[in-house]
Amino acid sequence: MATPKVLATHRLFDAARKTLQDNCDVEYWEKSERPPREEVLRRVKDKEGLICLLTEKVDDELLQAAPKLRIAANVAVGYDNIDVPACTKRGVVATNTPGVLDETTADFAWTLMMAVARRLGEGDVLARSGNWKGWDLDQLVGTDVWGKTLGIVGFGRIGRAMARRAGGFQMRVIYTDAVRAPADAEKELRAEYRDMNELLAEADFISVHTPLLPETHGLFNAAKFQRMKRTAFLINTSRGPVVDEAALVAALEDGKIAGAALDVYEKEPVIHPGLRRSNVVLAPHIASASLETRTKMACMAAENVIALLQGRRPANVLNPEALKG
Ligand code: GLV
Repeated sequence: MATPKVLATHRLFDAARKTLQDNCDVEYWEKSERPPREEVLRRVKDKEGLICLLTEKVDDELLQAAPKLRIAANVAVGYDNIDVPACTKRGVVATNTPGVLDETTADFAWTLMMAVARRLGEGDVLARSGNWKGWDLDQLVGTDVWGKTLGIVGFGRIGRAMARRAGGFQMRVIYTDAVRAPADAEKELRAEYRDMNELLAEADFISVHTPLLPETHGLFNAAKFQRMKRTAFLINTSRGPVVDEAALVAALEDGKIAGAALDVYEKEPVIHPGLRRSNVVLAPHIASASLETRTKMACMAAENVIALLQGRRPANVLNPEALKG
């Protein structure tokens, strides 16, 4: 049997390449800049497998250009870049990388929360500037994190990892989700359920962990900011379009909330210029970017592709209807 052909739109990590090398004939996009769309469409033509990043749209256009494609493996847990129904219609299995990035992403959401509360971005700029005149009693005074109320929006794996971290900071945890967590999970995580409006009114820090869905698109809008405490902060490591950026900028300008810390944006890599404010911490979509975790994600995507192309069921199938037999 011929070795199946696979396109990887990134050079990936050595561990993933090693896994792939004995099992597939992989064409890698080796350059550090992202491949132009035409290149992807041209290179995917004769491939049975695709390993792609969340910056690649796997839509009708791509699927049409790839008549032999059997699997599209996203190296990400979020898969709003993949038109899953379009994949299913063409019998293409879609996979993602759940589970391996929860703790790393929660670590980073926590980092953002601490950074914005304690004004680390501003402090870093001052310390490097050459203009720092030394310790002063009221210099860059921020807000305590410990002992405050953390509001988690989206209580899946990452939201729960966030809740677990709150114990060490003596925080009260409240959460909201479309589905209430089982009582034993609430008990273990010391998290109390609230409806969205209650959470908005009570939380000092709101950390967003929902997937991007039609129901969560623009979830944080002007009305939501209006309900938040004027002293509260918004942290978003989920997907940019969950927050209406223009409404966020207006809320920050009007002092409706105290600040924000963001890793994701509505139109990446474009960042709304109104977000470049001293009470906003900005990161370039790196919440899962530890070497350990990104390596695991790449390996997971590689294993998904190998499994399918060898006739086994991949571990992380998003559209089981597309599996044959
Ligand atoms: C990163 O944003 C991911 O979805 O894995």
